Formats: sequence, C-alpha cells, structure tokens
Amino acid sequence: MPKFFITALLLLFFVGFSQAQELKSPNGKFSMRFSLQGNGVPTYTLTYKGKQVIKPSKLGFELITKGAATASGGSDANMEQKAVNLQGSLHDNFTVTDTKTATFNETWNPVWGEVKTIRNHYNELAVTMNQKGTDRQMVVRFRLFDDGLGFRYEFPTQKNLTYFVIKEERTQFGMAGDHTAYWIAGDYDTQEYDYTTSKLSEIRGIMAKAVTNNLSQTTFSPTGVQTSLMMKTKDGVYINLHEAALIDYPAMHLNLDDKNLVFESWLTPDAQGAKGYMQAPRSTPWRTVIVSDDARDILASKMTYNLNEPSKIKDTSWIKPTKYVGVWWEMITGKSTWSYTNDYPTVQLGITDFSKAKPNGTHGANTANVKRYIDFAAKHGFDGVLVEGWNVGWEDWFGNSKDYVFDFVTPYPDFDVKGIRDYAKSKGVKMIMHHETSSSVRNYERHMDKAYQFMKDNGYDAVKSGYVGNILPRGENHYSQWIVNHYQYAIEKAAEYKIMVNAHEAVRPTGVARTWPNLIGNESARGTEYQSFGGSKPNHVTLLPFTRLIGGPMDYTPGIFEMDLSKLNPQNKSHVNSTLANQLALYLTLYSPLQMAADLPENYDRFADAFQFIKDVAVDWDDSKYLEAEPGEYITVARKAKGTGQWFLGSVGGNEARTSNIKLDFLDKGKKYVATIYADAKDAHYKTNPQAYNIRKVNVTSKSKLSQFVALGGGYAISFVEAPGK
Ligand code: NOJ
Ligand code: CA
Repeated sequence: MPKFFITALLLLFFVGFSQAQELKSPNGKFSMRFSLQGNGVPTYTLTYKGKQVIKPSKLGFELITKGAATASGGSDANMEQKAVNLQGSLHDNFTVTDTKTATFNETWNPVWGEVKTIRNHYNELAVTMNQKGTDRQMVVRFRLFDDGLGFRYEFPTQKNLTYFVIKEERTQFGMAGDHTAYWIAGDYDTQEYDYTTSKLSEIRGIMAKAVTNNLSQTTFSPTGVQTSLMMKTKDGVYINLHEAALIDYPAMHLNLDDKNLVFESWLTPDAQGAKGYMQAPRSTPWRTVIVSDDARDILASKMTYNLNEPSKIKDTSWIKPTKYVGVWWEMITGKSTWSYTNDYPTVQLGITDFSKAKPNGTHGANTANVKRYIDFAAKHGFDGVLVEGWNVGWEDWFGNSKDYVFDFVTPYPDFDVKGIRDYAKSKGVKMIMHHETSSSVRNYERHMDKAYQFMKDNGYDAVKSGYVGNILPRGENHYSQWIVNHYQYAIEKAAEYKIMVNAHEAVRPTGVARTWPNLIGNESARGTEYQSFGGSKPNHVTLLPFTRLIGGPMDYTPGIFEMDLSKLNPQNKSHVNSTLANQLALYLTLYSPLQMAADLPENYDRFADAFQFIKDVAVDWDDSKYLEAEPGEYITVARKAKGTGQWFLGSVGGNEARTSNIKLDFLDKGKKYVATIYADAKDAHYKTNPQAYNIRKVNVTSKSKLSQFVALGGGYAISFVEAPGK
C-alpha cells in the first residue's frame, strides 16, 4: 500500500475518533487543531510556520457546586436541578455536536490610533459541545488571524446551565520549550512592577525579588504572572499571551506549571473567592496568542482590537487626541502637595471646615499656579491642563479603609473653579479633571453623575481617574469581576456626558477602546511616577509596548528633562533612569492619543531647543512603521501624523549602548525632507550624563539611511519637515 494512503487512513481514523477539527490562518502560516482527548476533554494546539507554539492544551472550567444545602424541596425537577448543581466539572465528558467554519475580511477606521485603517481578517471555527450526563452546552470559538489566535467560550441559552459561578477557568497554554519570558508578578491589585527577564523555569526562584512594594497588592503564586505576557523561544519566535474584550468577567492571570511548562488561566477572585458570576447567554473574553518570528509584528498587531466590538459611540466628534501639561509632577516628586492644610491629623467631608484651615503653603493646585500652567500650555500649543489636588479630602486620602474620601465637586478654598474655567477658555486651553477615588469604588459611583455634570458645567471634557489603595467594598480586588464592571460603568457613564477617560490603577486594557473610544488612556502599569519613587529599569520602556500596550494606550507621562529629582525636592533621592533624548523618543515608541509633557515648565524653559520636539510631535497617526524591535533592548518606530502627513520617528534603547541602523524608506518617494535629529551625545548615559544631547539637521529622502548612536537608557527622536521647493 502506498505510504500516503496509510497516512491518510491513519489520519481519518484519528480525526474520526477524536472529533478533531483543523483551521488555517488566511496566509496559511498558522494552523490550529481542536480535538477531544481522553474522556472528552476539549484540547487545542497551535503551530506557526510548522513550529509548535501551543502544545496540546486543555480547555474548560471548574464550577462552584451548590451542594445539597442549597437544593431544597423534593419535587423531581428540584432533584434534577440538584444533580446538575453538583457537577463542578465543565472540562470533560464532552462530545462535539456541531462545528461551523467561516471567513471574515473587513477593514475599519479607528477614531484614533497608530494607523488610519485596520484590517480584520480571520478564519473561524466554532465548536459546539455537549456534556454527557449533564446535557450542558459550551461553544469554543476560534479565530485564526495572520498574526495569531483568539478564542473564547460561549454559553448559549439552555435549560441546564442558566446561572453558574466559576471556581476556576481551566484554559491551558502549553509552551513547547523553556522560553525567555518578560514578566511581572501575577497580582490581583497592581501591575506597577518592573519587568523581569528570565527563563520560564526560573520564575519561581526570582518571584520574591520581583514583588516590590505597592500600596495595594495581592500576589497568589510563586509562578503566577500577568498578561500581557511576552516570550521568545530559543529559535527566535515571539509569543504574546493576553486577552481581548474583558467585559463582565475577572481579569486573567497565568499560573505556570514549571515542571511541564504549561500555563493555566488563573482568574482574579472576588471578596468571597468566586471567580465569575455567569448567566447564559454569555461569552468570556477572548484568550489571545500573538505570534511572529519578527518582533516588529507583535508591536504592529491589531488582533486585540479586532476581537473587540465596533464603536458603540455613534458621534465620536467630541473624542480628541490630547497633548497636555499638568499640576502633577511637582506633587509626585514631593516639591508640592495635593493637600491644602497641615492643621488636621484627619479630615471628614461635610465636617471639616477648610475655610478655617491654615494653608500649608505647599498646595500645588492653587489658582495662581494653575494659571501659570494654563499660560504655559497656551504659549506652547498644548491642548490641555490637568490639575490634581483641587478638591477637598487629600489630607488623609488612603490607607484607612475610608469610604467617603472625596465628593469630586468641592474645591479647596484657593482653587477658583469658575475663574480658572473662564481663564482657560480665554486662552483656548481645555482643563482636565482629576478624580482620585482612593479605590472607594461605591463612593465614586454614588457621586458620578453629579461629578460629571460638574465637569461639563466647568468646561472639562476629560477625566483622569485613579484607584490607589485597597478597594472598597472591602475584600474586593482591583481586577475582580465586580470591579472590572465598575471601570466599564465609568467609561460608559462618561460617554453619556461626552467625557473622555484616562483611568489609573484600573484593570489593564484589552482593546475595549475600540468599542468605547472615549477610553483614551490607562495607566495600569509602572509609569513615570516610579522614576520618582526609586526609579525604573532603564529598559522598562522597551518592554511596555510588548506587554502592557498590547491592550491599548498608556498614560505613561513622559517628557522628564531634569533627572536629578533632588533639584526639585531635596528630600527626593530618586533619579529618572533615562536620558533626555530617550524621553523625547517615548512620544513615538509608547503610542497614546493622550500624551503628557510631565516635567515642570521651568525645566522646559531650560532646554527650550529639545522641548521644541515635544511641542511639534503629533498624537494621532495615519500610519506607523516599526523599523527595529527587540523586547528589553530597543524599539524604533516612524509615524505619519493624521491631518498634516508629517513624519516623526522615535527610538529607545535599553540596558546597553548601541547603534541604530535604519532606512528612511517609509518617507514619501520623490520628496526631500529636512530631518531634525534629537540624539544622545557620545558621552550620554542614563545615570551619569542624562542631559547630554545634540540636535542636528540633515537633508534626507526615502533613499537615505541613518546610523545613530543610542546611549545606555538612551534614544533619539526625529521630526521630518518637507523641504521647500524641489
Ligand atoms: C497614582 C497615579 O498614578 C498618579 O498619577 C496620581 O497622581 C496619584 N495616584 C494621585 O491620584
Ligand atoms: Ca499609578
């Protein structure tokens, strides 16, 4: 018998036996396989260019069983229900009852973004399964794109699975080797960690060191890590694991079985330890695996957005990419304070009389200082001014499990809301409101309508919210289902008021901004503030785009020019671990439609020639070209501004000095440009000589090449202006 015939027979037997299904990506580079293994256990695999990315990995859930105590009555129906309730396992005994395949190919235009048009192209396989003995149905829907795989669980309306509570999701991601991982510790309450680079097998040994202090933190496992998780195989394949469309569900972490190198989903529990309250019909978020042998493709992937629903906001004309300054860094560095008085050891809203309090003389959000920032914004063409510490309550705002911390409408006596509103308007500058909730989530929801109306009445179209400290209701976690729903509620409620949202300490984004484009920023990672709390690793910014930014933009707040923070506040011994040129490049490499120039006006005045780049750089783009990328080492990207067509380029380096070699072939053919290059000087170094930069102008075309030195913790930034004439 010919060999191929035997193989075909064997394959048929195997396929028939395990009810296997195969799917290929549109470009044929990916293939995935679904099958039932052993005792009807749903299992999938993924290969990329013939290499195994996900080895056979199980799918399913463990449910919380209600048990005899909750099943009452003696009727047959009740007894049946009781039997169903006792079935905790939703991960075996399945048979496949239906499979459907489909192809989808469309383009859509984001309201803001890195590119003008996004292609959403995939092949889909939906497998409907029935669980023997319980008659429960579950669908797993796979979408295979040219840049990776997304899949989710769906629970159609059915008799035997109506309401259910998840004890744990049992989605596995079996790794085919001991990959290099770029990870932060799994934590129910914070993502504000520096990244660690290690082999998967080394995570356990390093975990204790990787968990640095935070005002609210709850780690759960010595091998638990967060998504988006970036990895690299030893033969150069880049793998990113994350999730898309996290709606009404807890955030997923990954727990590694480090003997077998298998990650399993680990959801964030609520105060009772439950991991998800479900009611059919319902779908989970998508689990995503983005893969390429070229790291640049990971950064350019739009899969996470594609797995989210189109915009639910019809008129998006009020959503505006924004470059802003703010009364902020001076508090973060300790040069000034959010609080107004030092008179009281504790304050209570409605009881403490702030009009009688003696001002402490360090309150940053005073009218004169705010006007100074408005003047600075107007002079240099910024769109907005953020002011923190404007409202009463900052004298003791976290750490005491206090419910009623802020009311979001009562200013301190020295902050003239109406005067500032009129002054900003006369200068053509938009004010950005700050709502620190102190994680008192219910209190914020109680005040939200009034607070947003107050904003509109006073000319504010954007809010920066924050969730510092432990969540109230007590025992809840920052990323549990109920709190995820709160962040979503705030976004949707803000949309009703035509307010843009930038939430700090909220759950990390999962592409939800496609559906709700008024979510123009999130922090949800270790931002620039940590440069003032002891510093971040110099290569931190080369990792954020591969991890945190996969789900959406970050309000990283770049643009620090004075790295020695004792110059702002003698008590502050921190150092900003970055060169000045690196700070400029961040406006390109850390994509966001919301970008802050975070340093003090006086520091920008000292370096007016470098500041010119921050003034010029755009915040919304028609096109983006990733030119160089390696996680932890470097990222170089060129972007074409929306509206003007002007090109800008940014490049950041990490823990080693290097030479960046790029071609400028992204520039429009046949045109001549003057490139203004803001770069590290030869002797620049993030620690010892961060302010050593030079600025040069060079004539270039799309045929030009550039070889540019990048210091340790350094970078360079370029603005291209079309040369007049031919
Ligand atoms: C932490 C935020 O990340 C920071 O930007 C803010 O200034 C403080 N919380 C106070 O709300
Ligand atoms: Ca923060």
